[in-house]
Amino acid sequence: MQYLPIFTKLDNKPVLVVGGGEVALRKCRAFLKARANVTLVAPWFCDELKEHAHNNEVTLIDAYFDESHLEGKMLVIAATDRDDVNNNVFELANARNVFVNVVDDQPKCTFIFPSIVDRDPITIAISSAGTAPVLARRLREKLETLIPQHIGPLATLVGSFRDKVKQRFKHFADRRQFWEGVFDSSVVSKVQTGNTEAAQAQLSQMLDAKAEPEGEVYVVGAGPGDPELLTLKALQLMQQADVVVYDYLVSDEIMELVRRDADLVCVGKRLGDHSVAQEDTNQMLVDFAKQGKKVCRIKGGDPFIYGRGGEEVQVLAANNVNYQIVPGITAAAGCSAYAGIPLTHRDHAQAIQFVTGHCKKDGQELDWQSLAKAHQTLAIYMGVIKSPHIQAELLKHGRSATTPVAIIENGTRKNQRVVTGQLGELADLIERNSVISPALLIIGEVAALHSQLAWFGQNEQTSSFAQPLTDVSNT
Ligand SMILES: C[S@@+](CC[C@H](N)C(=O)[O-])C[C@H]1O[C@@H](n2cnc3c(N)ncnc32)[C@H](O)[C@@H]1O
Repeated sequence: MQYLPIFTKLDNKPVLVVGGGEVALRKCRAFLKARANVTLVAPWFCDELKEHAHNNEVTLIDAYFDESHLEGKMLVIAATDRDDVNNNVFELANARNVFVNVVDDQPKCTFIFPSIVDRDPITIAISSAGTAPVLARRLREKLETLIPQHIGPLATLVGSFRDKVKQRFKHFADRRQFWEGVFDSSVVSKVQTGNTEAAQAQLSQMLDAKAEPEGEVYVVGAGPGDPELLTLKALQLMQQADVVVYDYLVSDEIMELVRRDADLVCVGKRLGDHSVAQEDTNQMLVDFAKQGKKVCRIKGGDPFIYGRGGEEVQVLAANNVNYQIVPGITAAAGCSAYAGIPLTHRDHAQAIQFVTGHCKKDGQELDWQSLAKAHQTLAIYMGVIKSPHIQAELLKHGRSATTPVAIIENGTRKNQRVVTGQLGELADLIERNSVISPALLIIGEVAALHSQLAWFGQNEQTSSFAQPLTDVSNT
């Protein structure tokens, strides 16, 4: 190991930065974050450093560096653009056993600045010992996405209970068991949702051993299929669930990302094939939560857009089950973007309506008059089977037969297929091309832009979608 990772407490400790420009400023900021006592020496200083000095945050010495400036310093940074000065700082500091860092010159560093994931008081430092800083930065970016923001406040809360827990449990093993229980409990999601008081109250109860294990349900939108369209929050909750209750619409790649040892329950839902009735799904969520389990109820797209998430959450609320709701990218947004079809466009569509082709069987009919208006976009979910009816009603209410349409099958997935044509042939297009579910219908002037923008849109996707999309154009 070239560098031993240690965390130093620099609070009010004397450090020196040699240099007065942008690089010196950056290093100075890092020291100030750690509340160090910072002195800078240089014949010239940038305005921001002068401002820090004006606010009594740093001391500036307007001079060329010499050995006397090292007196009493714990650490020194050489951040000048002159090799001879930097070398001199390194030699003199090293001779005095003062830790030294010459910026961008790793052999002349007896300490280095790691890449940091900052969830104060939790800090994660990553170093490649100066060999591959860009790689270290990439690792940091990965960790940034994986480690939720609430870890910091959670650590603060836990820290405030440490003494009480030590008094209550004399043995280390008992304390560890207690904390494991806390981190598996809904204290975590209370902190996550900013409900610190409730988290504190629950922690106190757990300490008094009055609390039953408390389950909770995360109602999570998984987006239309590409796993990279998951939100960070969705990913984090999928990975902390004991049970995952999912629909067919959630893609296999997304299911790969749930916690390995979670129990998986498929509740189906394809048109005409409800493997589990909605009422039973609702009850299942309540029952799992009452058993103290963390349940991830994961749904395709957004849970509140034709996802029956509203009904499930109503039942959870009625049964006093804790829950969180995480929005997802809805099919209309995901499919249209990946097909290069802007849902609104200043020249073509000033409004967008989300419509379902599959109404509850109680005679509810759509407002066809409003849906048939020109210069708007219809994004029709579950519209494949009803397409002859949709086509007939829109034409009857005045929408032109030449209105462009696009049918996006398996949108955002590797097997995405886009079929384009005109409203007058919508049902025929679906039949001729054997369109299968899931498919979204986009009706409106903007659908014609697919032929111009699809490749641009597709080239913007990541390499996992590098295969050309199948494109069946009938215009
Ligand atoms: C029950 S709805 C669920 C909608 C989902 N909650 C959402 O926000 O996207 C199912 C319908 O959404 C549309 N859909 C969902 N994912 C899709 C995808 N990847 N490609 C095309 N259409 C999709 C289809 O119209 C499908 O029949």
